[in-house]
Amino acid sequence: MIKDSREIKIKKSLRSRITDVDWDNLPFGKVFSDHMLVMDYKDGQWEDAEIMPFEDLQMHPATSAIHYGQSIFEGMKANKDEDGNVLIFRPHLNAKRFTESCERMCMPAIAEEVFVDLIKKVVDLDRDWIPNKPGYSLYIRPFMFATDDFIGIKPSDTYKFIIFTCPVGAYYTAPVNVKIEEYYTRAAQGGVGRAKTAGNYAASLYPAKLAQEQGFHQLIWTDAAEHKYIEESGTMNIVFEIDGKMVTPSEDMDTILRGVTKRSVVEIAKHWGITVEERKVTVEEVVNALREGRVTDAFGAGTAATIAQIAKIGFRDELFELPSIESRTTSNKIKTYLTDLKSGKIEDELNWLVEF
Ligand code: COI
Repeated sequence: MIKDSREIKIKKSLRSRITDVDWDNLPFGKVFSDHMLVMDYKDGQWEDAEIMPFEDLQMHPATSAIHYGQSIFEGMKANKDEDGNVLIFRPHLNAKRFTESCERMCMPAIAEEVFVDLIKKVVDLDRDWIPNKPGYSLYIRPFMFATDDFIGIKPSDTYKFIIFTCPVGAYYTAPVNVKIEEYYTRAAQGGVGRAKTAGNYAASLYPAKLAQEQGFHQLIWTDAAEHKYIEESGTMNIVFEIDGKMVTPSEDMDTILRGVTKRSVVEIAKHWGITVEERKVTVEEVVNALREGRVTDAFGAGTAATIAQIAKIGFRDELFELPSIESRTTSNKIKTYLTDLKSGKIEDELNWLVEF
C-alpha cells in the first residue's frame, strides 16, 4: 500500500537542546536534533504522520524487527546556502532506493514524493540545526521497521516509519586504509545486498573488527562466489583511477548497494569528460595495477563518508601505499565540487538539489 500525502500533526518540543551542542566538536551520529517524524502502518495503510519531540521509543519485547531483522533505512544530507535556504542532496534517489528496499524486504512502500515531502517537513522544523561549517551537514535518517509483537517468521502486518536528523561532521576524519577481503562476505547473489537493510551492516561487523585489529578502517568486499570481483566497502561504494580512467564496480549485480554519492561521482566525472568504466572489476586487475603503480587515485563514496580518499590498500601480505592525497586530482576535484554544490556555493547545473 503506497502512502499518499496527508496532513501532519506537529507537537513541538518545549525546550530546544540546540544551545547544549558543542558545534566545534560534532562526532558523527551522536547528536540529535529536537524533533522526529513518526508514521505508523496498520490495517493495510499508513496513518497520518506526526512530528514530535525526539524521544525514546517504547517497544514490545517481541517486536519482530528486533528478532527477524525486517528493518530498512536511508541516509541523506541537508546543508544551507549563505542566504539560509535549505538544500537537500538528491533525496529522490534515496526515495527510490527506499522503495526498492521495501519491496525486497516485504515492507509497505511510501510514495516517493511523500517520502521527500516528509523529509522536507522535519528538516524545515529543525533547520536551525543545520551546521554552517564547510564539511558539516544535517544528516537525515529515515527508517522503517516491523512492529508486530509476534514470534514467527512472516512479514509483519504493522510498521513504524521514523525520520530523525543529526548535525554531523566527517564520518572519516582522515584518509582510510582498506583491506581486500577474501574470506568473509557481505552479500551473495540473490540475497539482500542491494537493500539498505540493517542485517547487511550487522553481518559486516565481525570481519570489519578483524580488519581493524590489523590497522584497517574498512574492508573492500569481494563477491561471495569466487572472491574474484571487487564489490563495495560497506560504509561506501568504491572508485579507482587506473591508467587515467575511472573504474568502479557496476551496480547491476544485486550484491552492491546503489549509492547516491557514487552515482553522482560517475555522473559528474562523465560530465567533465573523464572516461568512466562501470563494470565488473577484478581483484587481480586492481592488485596488478597497484603493484605497477598505475592506481593514481582510489576513494570511497557514500552519504556519510562523502569522498573518503584511500591511503593504503591491503591484499594478503602486501600493503600498497597510494599516491599522496595532494596529488589526487580527481578525488580532490570531486570532493570540492560536491562540498561546494551542497552548500550552494556553485551553480546546481545538474539539478541535484531540492531547495526550500
Ligand atoms: C550512509 O552513508 O548514509 C550510511 O548509511 C552508511 C553508514 C556508514 C552511516
